[in-house]
Amino acid sequence: MYRSHTCGELRDSHVNEEVTLSGWVHKTRDKGFVVWIDLRDRYGITQLVFDGERSDADMLEKARSLSREYVIQVKGKVIERASKNPNMPTGNVEILVTELQVLNEALLPPFTIEDQTDGGDDLRMKYRYLDIRRNPVKNNLIFRSQVTMEVRKYLAGQGFIEVETPYLIKSTPEGARDFVVPSRMNEGQFYALPQSPQTFKQLLMVGGLDKYFQIVKCFRDEDLRADRQPEFTQIDCEMAFAEQEDVLQAFEGLIKHLLKNIHQVETGPFPRLTYDEALRRYGSDKPDIRFGMEFGELNKIAQHKDFKVFNSAELVVGIAVPGAASYSRKEIDALIDWVRRPQVGAKGMVYVKCNEDGSFKSSVDKFYTAEDLEQWAAATGAKAGDLICVLSGEVNATRSQLSALRMEMAERLGLRKPDVFAPLWVLDFPLLELDEETGRYHAMHHPFTSPKPGQLELLDTAPGEVRANAYDLVLNGNEIGGGSIRIHDKETQATMFKHLGFTPEEARAQFGFLMDAFQYGAPPHGGIAFGLDRLVAILGGQETIRDFIAFPKNNSGRDVMIDAPASIDEAQLKELNLKLDL
Ligand code: AMO
Repeated sequence: MYRSHTCGELRDSHVNEEVTLSGWVHKTRDKGFVVWIDLRDRYGITQLVFDGERSDADMLEKARSLSREYVIQVKGKVIERASKNPNMPTGNVEILVTELQVLNEALLPPFTIEDQTDGGDDLRMKYRYLDIRRNPVKNNLIFRSQVTMEVRKYLAGQGFIEVETPYLIKSTPEGARDFVVPSRMNEGQFYALPQSPQTFKQLLMVGGLDKYFQIVKCFRDEDLRADRQPEFTQIDCEMAFAEQEDVLQAFEGLIKHLLKNIHQVETGPFPRLTYDEALRRYGSDKPDIRFGMEFGELNKIAQHKDFKVFNSAELVVGIAVPGAASYSRKEIDALIDWVRRPQVGAKGMVYVKCNEDGSFKSSVDKFYTAEDLEQWAAATGAKAGDLICVLSGEVNATRSQLSALRMEMAERLGLRKPDVFAPLWVLDFPLLELDEETGRYHAMHHPFTSPKPGQLELLDTAPGEVRANAYDLVLNGNEIGGGSIRIHDKETQATMFKHLGFTPEEARAQFGFLMDAFQYGAPPHGGIAFGLDRLVAILGGQETIRDFIAFPKNNSGRDVMIDAPASIDEAQLKELNLKLDL
């Protein structure tokens, strides 16, 4: 038996018990006649003691020779500590060791196995198995497991069936590039790894399974960011005989279940915003509503004075930053520089200080009276002590710039509290999105999404206006889930493909199997998929999903530990009928 207890378990009540522990040498303190060792495992740390009086001399010597991260087994008696450590759960006791066995030696780790380590990102990723020994990473993985278990518990309780769908498939159009796998047995042909199980889950509905879910890896060859990995996990779900309201209720229930069971937070009905409203009020289709700073549109009150910049703008819009009227000239200049950075892209920023005494001081005092500025304050909800920041220009660009500023100011003011959860639904997304480069429309969600009732006809005349039966679940400014009610008849699906620029032959070649299935009694259906990595990170009060993935890829899509991707040898290339011409 390697152990009778874990390293996180022993308390006062165990004093005088003989125990066996196994774990890693976390730290050694050698005071000459006494050696203390902190022994660590997944569950915690227990202090071991070897001393000249009570242990034999050989053992003291052996204890002294142990280095960090050696794997050892000890037997001994639990004793009360002379000086207790109230900061450790096991801090009242220590083990007076009578037997010590080295189970495995260890090289000196390239970084310290501490909560605050001296290892940089690259080093930690290369030795991820050592990184995982550190509490922050270990706890994130345990947290992820806990969330995943709760997801399964809730969905199983609601009658959802977990079904696995294949990984070696044909391309599904979720908007990113595919990762492809060459087929040895079918020369010159490739599988694609699924960007999502979208078409399969729809076929499971045609198959009559009624309520499906799967916690499933998805693969997308796209540029990486803090909230994106090339392989990531979805909680993928689909329901038959379901309208939008059924899906929203079922999955609002899932998020509520998680908030309740993970964080003991009870939430009321989630707010719902249309896509248009979200953009108007927050400049973003994934607004963070933990704080205010809602947009105030100023066109009517700020245009047609003598300020040319505003007069020529499509949109003049501002936010009131709480308490920022006290900003110095220098601080405001720094803010203006911030909005002008290429990543944000504003040309400049107009500001109004709403002074505590009720007066205003603005960068456009030449053009506007105090009465004008009072109207701006009313439109942005600014109070005495606030700073109104105003941007102007083309509608979409200006909104996204002000949204970036809103998030930045919230971050600086500590308003993005990691332990506050503000979920909402964003509804009625546009069905199609114009690709500025190609001038072609593509599906904003995916081509299987149904337009809102009665909007199909609009496709011919005003494709950009058509709204979809599509919804996103947003949590703390992050899109954590998205779904839609699907098209379930062949004709509508064919019309959709036509509007996306597919010829009937192309549509048949790519999605013939789905359109065929629709002819054999496809029930009305719809669903949603959540990004599990994002959901877990946000529930864990963070936004970088890499920290919640055991073996993530770096920003260039590499696994630096196993050194992938890598080239393959000639023989393997040949077997796959591949020729490299580099
Ligand atoms: P969608 O493409 O919106 O929908 O994806 C669903 C959710 O998956 C997460 N996500 C990602 N997470 C990490 N890294 C990525 N690269 C990444 N890409 C997406 C997001 C997103 O909200 N088949 C549809 C769902 C449906 O219609 O039912 C789909 O995949 O949190």
